[in-house]
Amino acid sequence: MSVSPPLPLGEAARSAGEGCVRDFNVRENTHPSPQPSPRGRGSQVYRRAWRALLRVKLHLVDRRKYRSIVVEHVAGIPLVVLPDVFNPKLLRSGELLVQQLSRPELLTPGARVLDLGSGSGAVGVAAARRGCRVMAVDINPSAVRCTRINALLNHVDLDVREGDLFAPAAGERFDVVVFNPPYYRGIPRDGLDHAWRSVDLAERFAAQLNDHLAPGGHALVVLSSDGDGDTFLTALDRNGFQREVVSTRDFTNEVMRVYRVRSC
Ligand SMILES: C[S@@+](CC[C@H](N)C(=O)[O-])C[C@H]1O[C@@H](n2cnc3c(N)ncnc32)[C@H](O)[C@@H]1O
Repeated sequence: MSVSPPLPLGEAARSAGEGCVRDFNVRENTHPSPQPSPRGRGSQVYRRAWRALLRVKLHLVDRRKYRSIVVEHVAGIPLVVLPDVFNPKLLRSGELLVQQLSRPELLTPGARVLDLGSGSGAVGVAAARRGCRVMAVDINPSAVRCTRINALLNHVDLDVREGDLFAPAAGERFDVVVFNPPYYRGIPRDGLDHAWRSVDLAERFAAQLNDHLAPGGHALVVLSSDGDGDTFLTALDRNGFQREVVSTRDFTNEVMRVYRVRSC
């Protein structure tokens, strides 16, 4: 078991859990690469300083969370997070995604949902609590175990499967595919590292998504201004998907966006 996840800087910074300053819906059809804010260079320096500070906090405080079993509350949902499993609260992107699931235009009760890369199962549990039929998939066996525990804890029925990307869902289609992918390119060093690094997930996700969307279905994908979000967006564009930003949050050190992705 890894006790010291080698978090990339962006995720290290993300772990601080500072509040958002904006959260709104925007339609956006072209990719917003991280843009200098109106404050320009001063703002970039400020963001860098903030990230450095958060990195120190990661080393001093947050890493302990990956060595022990912790309980988090994400949008009011209690979740056990096992060692070596992505923490949806600490890392914020999971919580941001869960919050979107209460929006009826993004998730209709009763929908068939695929929680891809389920981690703790935060997304799957939230969707099941809204009356959806959920399959949850993760490549990390600890995450699969954790998702099963959280389904039990929350008295919801999840079909939890271990495997690579869409492979455990072969031949199945979903109204909503929800994905908080690893943001960095590279070979994962251990189970937990799958949360941050992947070799070619962006391309494979974009190439296979259409085969797993029911008619009229969509995917919800959260990406950060840190990491290789551009790779995901380029891959989706190349495969002819439409995308729009349905939520944006500026966490000072990084900006996260949730995209709704649909077949053309
Ligand atoms: C950033 S974490 C997100 C976890 C959770 N969905 C959340 O939002 O809190 C990414 C998750 O995807 C999983 N993952 C990475 N590569 C995968 C693959 N090829 N197939 C299935 N799951 C994968 C990781 O193990 C990790 O649990």
